[in-house]
Amino acid sequence: MKFPEIEIGLAGLGVMGRNLALNIADRGAAVAVYNRTAGVTRNFIEHEVGNRAIYPAYSIAEFIDLQPKPRAIIILVQSGPPVDMVLKELLLFLDPGDTVIDAGNSHFIDTNRRAKVLANRNLFFVGMGISGGEAGARHGPSLMPGGSRKGYDRVQAIFNAIAAKANSEPCVAYIGAGSAGHYTKMVHNGVEYGLMQLIAESYDLLKRGAGLSVDELAEIYSRWNQEELNSYLIEITAKIFKYRDTATDRPLVDLILDAAKQKGTGKWTSWDAMDLMVPTPSIDIAVAMRGLSSHKAERREASQVLHGPEIKFVGDRDRFITQMKNALFASMLVTFAQGLAQLREASLVYNYGINLESVAKVWRGGCIIRAGLLEGIRAAYRAKPDLPNLLLDPQFAKKLMERQADWREVVKTAVGWGIPVPGLAVSLAYFDGYRSEWLPANLIQAQRDYFGAHTYERLDKEGQFHTDWEKI
Ligand code: 6PG
Repeated sequence: MKFPEIEIGLAGLGVMGRNLALNIADRGAAVAVYNRTAGVTRNFIEHEVGNRAIYPAYSIAEFIDLQPKPRAIIILVQSGPPVDMVLKELLLFLDPGDTVIDAGNSHFIDTNRRAKVLANRNLFFVGMGISGGEAGARHGPSLMPGGSRKGYDRVQAIFNAIAAKANSEPCVAYIGAGSAGHYTKMVHNGVEYGLMQLIAESYDLLKRGAGLSVDELAEIYSRWNQEELNSYLIEITAKIFKYRDTATDRPLVDLILDAAKQKGTGKWTSWDAMDLMVPTPSIDIAVAMRGLSSHKAERREASQVLHGPEIKFVGDRDRFITQMKNALFASMLVTFAQGLAQLREASLVYNYGINLESVAKVWRGGCIIRAGLLEGIRAAYRAKPDLPNLLLDPQFAKKLMERQADWREVVKTAVGWGIPVPGLAVSLAYFDGYRSEWLPANLIQAQRDYFGAHTYERLDKEGQFHTDWEKI
């Protein structure tokens, strides 16, 4: 039986799917929902849906049948094979002109493959990144749709309604062709890894280095969240420091095992950045440090044999806290710059047609990396859409230069203490490398030519050269 009022279908009633369905219905669009396990659907309808216009289906055939044509169906299942399984079933029933939106964290290469299959069936395929976790899905996520423009037009009004709002604008925009949406979400997650690592390093320096208590940390991060570091990740960090475990009345953060897990999106970002030869060291090191953290038993053993300097704080604590804030801000900015430089290059190489101003607009609200900083980033790309790197924007260049003395001081202090701050240090090194007209790569070229006859170019004349280096 068809329900002409149904505007969209949603397959996959996990946490994200259920919350997104409720969000869509609350914004006035009727939704058909389906989940492979019927009990999940039944539970959802009985306990969460109330009198909202959410129509359950208990088989794919029924799910398709409920919806008027042309249909639009969001798939929100775990990335990888589960997406292909749902698509395979949907393809048995969909009609030309229908739109399919994959809203999972799919790898962009998978999205390219799926887009071809669906296009051959005259279906519109939208690969969409969605960020903001459970609360975002329920009350306003950041949406990064890409792929079929026609498919996007079909659902644009609904997406505008359900997306987070930043300064009254919806945090959604058509990102670009092909897998541009999923690629942008992947880079979002790479930046997310980078920012989280930087914040963790600042916590380590303030805790072990400056000896601050968890209550002092809570106060500092809340204050920072009111200033230029204003961002979702700083906000939740302050809240985490305030949280006490009820059973022990100790700060919960102190009871959590120091071994970070990952689902892979940060690693994908680094992989592709390397393929594109775009340097993203602040993201790469964040992936590596999650890896190092996960070897807890080995680190425990190493801590018994490898000794470092004694950590002793000397000087003015308030001054150090301000230096830390400046170092963190500069490093966060550099991390955004690397992610956006990667998106710029990916857009050129993969023909995405991404407008970086739109990306900044979409990231301002709803997503995990939302930050006050993004308003300025958006303005930078509006002023100069083909800006090769955010570091070249005059406003941001000034901010970095003003903070560099503090940034260097923090890194030097950390090195002296033996507290690992690879994110802060590599972000500073990126800044120093990027602003260096000369880098020692001439020596690397000479070495390559020495041992492998790989040739080199010269500064004083055109061409490729090889030298017999042993013949001195
Ligand atoms: C988001 C998050 C979301 C998820 C991460 C976690 O934007 O809402 O990025 O996608 O929480 O994928 O990633 P890890 O498990 O790899 O840390």
